[in-house]
Amino acid sequence: MQKLNNRYTITAALPYANGPLHIGHIAGAYLPADIFVRYLRLRKKEVAFMCGSDEHGAAITIRAKKEGITPNAIIDKYHELNKKTFEKFGIAFDMYHRTSEPSHHELSQEFFTKLYEKGEFEERESEQYYDEEFNQFLADRYITGKCPKCGNESAYGDQCEKCGSSLNPTDLINPVSTLSGKTPILKKTTHWFLPLDKYQEWMEKWLVEGKKGKWKSNVYGQCSSWLNQGLQARAMTRDLDWGVDVPLKGAEGKKLYVWLDAPIGYISATKQWAKDTGNDWEKFWKKQENPEDDSTLIHFIGKDNIVFHCIIFPVILHAHGDYILPENVPANEFLNLEGHKLSTSRNWAVWLHEYLESFPGKEDVLRYALAATLPETKDSEFTWKDFQTRNNSELVAIFGNFINRAVVLTHKYYDGKVPERGEWFDYDQEILNELKGYPDLIEEKIVNYKFREALAAMMEFARLGNKYLAETEPWKLQKENPERVKTIMNLALQIAANLSIVCEPFLPFTATKLRKMLNIEAYEWDLAGSADLLEAGHQINKAELLFEKIEDKTVEEQVNKLEEAKKANAGGSPEVTPMKEEIKFEDFMKMDMRVGTILTAEKVKKSNKLLKLTIDTGIDKRTILSGIAKHFKAEEVVGKQVTVLVNLAPRPMMGEVSEGMVLMAEDSEGNLQFMQPGAEVNPGSTIS
Ligand code: 2FM
Ligand code: ZN
Repeated sequence: MQKLNNRYTITAALPYANGPLHIGHIAGAYLPADIFVRYLRLRKKEVAFMCGSDEHGAAITIRAKKEGITPNAIIDKYHELNKKTFEKFGIAFDMYHRTSEPSHHELSQEFFTKLYEKGEFEERESEQYYDEEFNQFLADRYITGKCPKCGNESAYGDQCEKCGSSLNPTDLINPVSTLSGKTPILKKTTHWFLPLDKYQEWMEKWLVEGKKGKWKSNVYGQCSSWLNQGLQARAMTRDLDWGVDVPLKGAEGKKLYVWLDAPIGYISATKQWAKDTGNDWEKFWKKQENPEDDSTLIHFIGKDNIVFHCIIFPVILHAHGDYILPENVPANEFLNLEGHKLSTSRNWAVWLHEYLESFPGKEDVLRYALAATLPETKDSEFTWKDFQTRNNSELVAIFGNFINRAVVLTHKYYDGKVPERGEWFDYDQEILNELKGYPDLIEEKIVNYKFREALAAMMEFARLGNKYLAETEPWKLQKENPERVKTIMNLALQIAANLSIVCEPFLPFTATKLRKMLNIEAYEWDLAGSADLLEAGHQINKAELLFEKIEDKTVEEQVNKLEEAKKANAGGSPEVTPMKEEIKFEDFMKMDMRVGTILTAEKVKKSNKLLKLTIDTGIDKRTILSGIAKHFKAEEVVGKQVTVLVNLAPRPMMGEVSEGMVLMAEDSEGNLQFMQPGAEVNPGSTIS
């Protein structure tokens, strides 16, 4: 048995409540965390497993703006949906909190005030990017540009998601406001900075001395590369109207940086849970008198969150002084889907709430398929074919088949009573030795965050049971040697009982069904590896199918759904709009079409369809209202060369006048693309 601590504080990244969850989310953080926590609970450890919705920051306000509803409506909708989705997948958080809760705001403010009073912040007036059209300072997701570290063209103001670097807006090359699509101006404002540079030495010591060889190499490598580049001060406040108020006089109208308040969300969740259950939250977060009594803090996250959990939050906790620091941050890489990156905007995803509808009762199948392909050391891939194979060839053919045979034969030969065993044969002894080894092997993999290998070992254990029955063939022996069969069936049932323990972290719904079939309570992990879990004479229940075959047709439907998404993204369509009535050459020649360049773009207030464009037509610079707002964001059309019908009579629209028309390619499903020249030409070039 592995040496473990007695108490654990396990956190899983708080997902933004700005959209539904997909398979990439659970493969990144939540499934590994849940496997780990379920194992700890089986080891009877004291555990607080915390998560919740991250409800601040530009991720929320930008989404609200896009949907034309309030940030509150967005977070209420997705908090509920995501909370239920996690529950249905058996991700068993003790608390799924919300950062919009007043108790979270209070705790975040307390943290800020404590650091402020300790003199940990530097108040700085500096020039920050500002969007004059929207009267807003631009930080985080409100500003994009080229990453100075890796050249990614769409890095955010606080982070490049491609290389993971943490950035300041002023680091971006060619910054653009995501609100207006324009180049922002610089304007003075005051903020409170956390001087990470002051903690460089402490961080190096903590990381190099404490974590080298212990943390996953992808995580440790990223951290040491940032340390080598030298840490820099980061603003912990923002000029925004959505978030936690900065609790300082003179900071009215400013909010805390979302990455300051979000990880504090783990603590506020623990406080709420402790309050609800009569527990003591401090023992899960605060340093204890005797360091041996400290809880072990582990953050489960995806790789885009590494800098915040491995550098910024530990510095905050250390600067505060009362708190424990993370023992480990086993971040996962990304999961791809059928050869492409998962993408919310392109609908290239398997949405969990949709899976639950299409595959009722098959939550464990997805847990299994994902656990088998977790992106633990590098990006990995989910395919529907692999999902089907894992189900049909492993869960059904090995695990399910073994359990079914063991339970059905026990009913057939002994009316469902566990038979008394006789002498072990050599072959039984071999199987027994293997039985004893598997729980330790699985455990060793889990505690080292090697969940894929742990899962494979669990399935090997089931395979052992299956092989034992296949090779001893009790159904052939029953007539001539019923005593021998009793021993075989006893051992097979002991393996089944062991599986009900060790499969629980991965397949919790299956473990419950299996326990019900075997008519046993949940055993603790320490009992696994024993051939005496079931007493002779113990009555078991009737067999129930644990898994069922997934047909080709079922996975084809899912693949087709993705194909549809691909078509929609490519603007292609199998249907072609019928040809219009024939016209004369003279009719065509009346149209004056030119290439124009879009200079500015903004959404027309009160319309969710129209973008107001200023276009350089070569002849003049004019305003054209175009019904493309549902297809393109303002910021992404600026600079594009497009085809413009310039002699269309001006038309009043939504209180403005549109002076022409931008021509678009449109398929029968309404997907739009600009008509663009193959190479850049001068604005005003004619089209004929
Ligand atoms: O990347 C994200 O989805 C963030 N909402 C994760 C926050 S983790 C924690 F710090 F709250
Ligand atoms: Zn980068």
